[in-house]
Amino acid sequence: MAELCKISFPGSDFVAITLECHQSLSEHLTIQNSPILFGCRTGLCGTCLVEVIGDIPPPQPDEQEMLETLAPNNPHARLACQVDDVTVNIEIRRLEW
Ligand code: FES
Repeated sequence: MAELCKISFPGSDFVAITLECHQSLSEHLTIQNSPILFGCRTGLCGTCLVEVIGDIPPPQPDEQEMLETLAPNNPHARLACQVDDVTVNIEIRRLEW
């Protein structure tokens, strides 16, 4: 059986969801099952800015550059649409900017 990763949304009314590990967030999170909103899904608009608690692979240079603009002081900030390899249980909170 595939390993499962739990995605939880503390501070929201959404219940945690469980994915097979090594999946991308943008393929599985929707407006129905999560508080996360997506726009471009290509890392350009910043709509999906979130804080991720959990040990996931670090951002690629393009994502890193956006994060430095949108959330320069938050080491946990990520663009949810660019998180494409969830390997552990994580907590996600939406960030405003
Ligand atoms: S949805 Fe546009 S940056 Fe993620």
